[in-house]
Amino acid sequence: MRDVAVIGIGMTKFGELWTMSIRDMFVQAALDAIKDAKVDHIDSMYVGTMSSGLFVGQEHIGAVMADYLGMTPIPASRVESACASGGVSFRQAFLEVASGHSDIVLAGGVEKMTDGADVTEALATAADQEYEVYQGVTFPGLYAMIANAHMNEFGTTREQLAHVSVKNHKNGSKNPNAQFRSPVTLEQVMKSTLVADPLRLLDCSPVSDGAACVILCPLEMAKKITNHPVKVIASAQASDTIALHSRESFTTLNAVKHAAEKAYKQANLTPNKIQFAEVHDCFSIAEIVVTEDLGFFGKGKGGQAVEKGLTSLEGKIPINTSGGLKSKGHPVGATGIAQIIEVYEQLTNQAGDRQIKNAKVGLAQNMGGSGASCLIHILEAV
Ligand code: COA
Repeated sequence: MRDVAVIGIGMTKFGELWTMSIRDMFVQAALDAIKDAKVDHIDSMYVGTMSSGLFVGQEHIGAVMADYLGMTPIPASRVESACASGGVSFRQAFLEVASGHSDIVLAGGVEKMTDGADVTEALATAADQEYEVYQGVTFPGLYAMIANAHMNEFGTTREQLAHVSVKNHKNGSKNPNAQFRSPVTLEQVMKSTLVADPLRLLDCSPVSDGAACVILCPLEMAKKITNHPVKVIASAQASDTIALHSRESFTTLNAVKHAAEKAYKQANLTPNKIQFAEVHDCFSIAEIVVTEDLGFFGKGKGGQAVEKGLTSLEGKIPINTSGGLKSKGHPVGATGIAQIIEVYEQLTNQAGDRQIKNAKVGLAQNMGGSGASCLIHILEAV
């Protein structure tokens, strides 16, 4: 296997992008990434999208995007793993370059969620239709069950959940691509509309449009193109039961644990060597559980960690410096790639007001559904 690097990035702003179609968004992000990578062609491309068929009535997204990008006849594939579709896109591109099959590969993700589809119903297709959705459960409902279990088992407080949103909105206020750029207070979170007890409006990631793309190539080639290549030192994926009730515990995400174990082994690192991470905070409780299952904090200690400021921009391990899904937005298929972009920007000192000092090693964790699929990538500045 060859060493692989990221050499270029491009993304749209996230939010309600009324003037752009799904193909406009993807083409803009892809052209920006190609320009940033300073390459004159790509050998193949992957497009992560969770449900372009349900959201905008368009399937066959790989071919649509290759066509509108002017890249036919290169191979162009759509990949899907619910909200982890972007992570799978990145991993497929990584494997294609690492294997020696292709040299320059684009990994992208896109979703257009605000065009009038029943978003809650479309998102729920990523849960277990027969045993969960048919009974009326939605994603806010599933994560509310995880939150209640975590509060009962470990004493995690309502305030600690709110601290996740306050931190992520603060970080997002420094990110020009974020959907919500206004900071929120603890009181605003605690008083926002109840969605699924104990989760409130400001505990939830929003409904968003957006696209994100990156370019990968062999590390040796990257060194000739750029002075700041970013090496992919781990790419891991794992799965878990689709239904929450099939799990031994509601408060541990086994796919995260398994993928993390593999990723740390590949990178030859322990969790305490990760300097910062983008994690899948689709709901505030998700960030708390994931930071525990990644091994950054002991089980049940994630709530205290965010309350103490350990995960803030200035903290011991900054989490979601981009604003996370909560503030940056969550166009589901694009999210996994946008996380890689934040890690890349931090590692190449391009993160502006949210730049952390001496960033050398960062992690991106992307998951689908209530954690039935998980992708973890670790990147290093070389
Ligand atoms: N965070 C912050 N503000 C939000 C928000 C969010 N998640 N969602 C909506 N808002 C704002 C809107 O901008 C709007 O503000 P305005 O009145 O100033 O324009 C206001 O709140 C009401 O927005 P609206 O679109 O009517 O909200 P809604 O009640 O239809 O939807 C949620 C709110 C939380 C139900 C929706 O965002 C949601 O379903 N989020 C979860 C998405 C999800 O499950 N993703 C997959 C995860 S696995």
